[in-house]
Amino acid sequence: MKTLGMAGLLVAAVSTTAFAQAADALKTERCATRVSVSLVGKAPTTALLSSADPQSQVDSMVTSADFQERFSRFINATFNDTPGQTIADDAAYHMAKYVLANNLKWEDMFIGQYGVTVNTQVTPNTVTVNSNANGLGYFRWNPWMVRYAGNEPAGIRISTAYRMMNNTIGLKLVASTNAPTADISANGRQAAGCRACHFDGWFALDKTAAVLGKVTRSGNNVTFAASTAGPQDVLGGLTINDDKELATALVKSQAFEFRACRLAFEYLYGRAEQTCEGPIFDKCIDAFRADGKIQTAIATVAKEASFCQ
Ligand code: HEC
Repeated sequence: MKTLGMAGLLVAAVSTTAFAQAADALKTERCATRVSVSLVGKAPTTALLSSADPQSQVDSMVTSADFQERFSRFINATFNDTPGQTIADDAAYHMAKYVLANNLKWEDMFIGQYGVTVNTQVTPNTVTVNSNANGLGYFRWNPWMVRYAGNEPAGIRISTAYRMMNNTIGLKLVASTNAPTADISANGRQAAGCRACHFDGWFALDKTAAVLGKVTRSGNNVTFAASTAGPQDVLGGLTINDDKELATALVKSQAFEFRACRLAFEYLYGRAEQTCEGPIFDKCIDAFRADGKIQTAIATVAKEASFCQ
């Protein structure tokens, strides 16, 4: 009786260890898959699968070409409501790839001195990003300006102003111009149901748009003229003169850091951060503030233990 009991105890001890090891292996494998699929959109490599700590590879994965491609596509889909009709329309995609490939700060997306060259002589057309002292991220790229020029009757670039604030700091408004009898002119936009978005509040669309100057259409020709409206009091008490001052104020705000870390969560989890993830979100903000890189924000979140749990 006594001997049997000892043996039984021994078997139980062995199998518990074996199960624990198997569970650990499964957990590590699941982690490798999670890290790989969410960062680069691919099944894990054999090396990653056999790594004891897949999250130790995160820092190098965010420098890979696969990550650059996948994240740039994600950004393009997030910053635009629909895919562009031509390759040149997807400015955010091209700028993001350039920013990541050259290890630039995320703010360079929106204020970096870069221009674009579109070669329409080849099929498919090609898009090249280049240095340009007059650049303002992609905000001064002609295909993007035309895409978001809008249809405001007097040529006020409301659509552009909204898109700039959406892309930089994540402002989300649902335009409500559906009232068919509404006067949609600047006067009409002063009406009670319109002014909350168009003239009041820190984002006041008509005032932020005023600093961008106007768009004129004549046939297929779309031209842009600098603002003559003078400085506008927007963004909660700032005096803004032009597109460059607007973009710069946006990327220097806390809302910009917040947006960067929300993008990191959305990229990795397919959803915004949750309340219980506050401490991780704060860590992300601190890391992003330190070097200004979106890769750092993403890596910070992906290296948390909770990402693999
Ligand atoms: C909830 C916020 C909100 C309210 C309220 C609102 N708008 Fe807008 N409006 C927007 C946004 C955002 C845009 C830019 C949409 C875009 O181009 O993506 C816009 C754009 C416009 C444009 C320019 C469209 C273009 O193609 O350039 C006009 C004109 C306009 N709104 C008129 C009105 C009128 C008139 C009202 C009141 C009946 C109104 N809006 C109420 C948010 C709002």
